[in-house]
Amino acid sequence: MSFVVAIDGPAGSGKGTITKLVGERLGLLNIDTGATFRCVTLAMLKQNIKIDETEKIKKLLETIKIELERKGEEQKVWLNGEDVSVQIREKAVNDFVSPVSTLKIVREKLLELQRNIAQGKNVIMEGRDIGTTVFPDANVKIYLDATPEERAKRRVLQNIEKGIPTTYHEALENVKARDKMDSERELAPLKRAEDAIYIDSTRMTIPEVVEKICHMIERAK
Ligand code: DC
Repeated sequence: MSFVVAIDGPAGSGKGTITKLVGERLGLLNIDTGATFRCVTLAMLKQNIKIDETEKIKKLLETIKIELERKGEEQKVWLNGEDVSVQIREKAVNDFVSPVSTLKIVREKLLELQRNIAQGKNVIMEGRDIGTTVFPDANVKIYLDATPEERAKRRVLQNIEKGIPTTYHEALENVKARDKMDSERELAPLKRAEDAIYIDSTRMTIPEVVEKICHMIERAK
């Protein structure tokens, strides 16, 4: 039987970092569902497919191959056999991913993919709708939050590390726009599951959040 930890929260709340560290510490497979939406978005950009070109999107989804691979510290993301780990974090994808993730056909396809990846495994899965839609019966559900200003600051620092120049203003605008789209969309919006534990990480360090979550998981095992 598999054990599932669901971590949901807005852009920049620290889900990626925290999920990776908790997963490593407790031996849980780390699944970043945002990367799957980013892959579809990148594939659409590469083929110049617009958001309303439903037939073309359907065709693309029929053949798309998305693979997530964890290599030690690194997460590699493959789109149709190409390593797109860096490309999926670029501005063009950031700006287009929220509208793409509102599409029903995209969500249906990725829901199936996400459930398949986790099947029979012990996983820690991060996203927006894991505790509400992908795994409503997850063993542990966490909603990780932080203020938009703090999340924008974190985004700027992350981007500097990756060599992507971003101003605080740009990051804050992006965080706010994505919050709005992610939480107001009709299908599987970003929402705290009723039984999710709420953690506000604004004034917490990464080790503090990791400690707290590991403790909760250990208790639920
Ligand atoms: O976590 P992230 O920033 O990489 O996610 C990118 C986008 O994908 C985000 O703006 C909304 C969408 N997403 C989603 O709709 N559902 C998920 N489970 C994960 C991400």
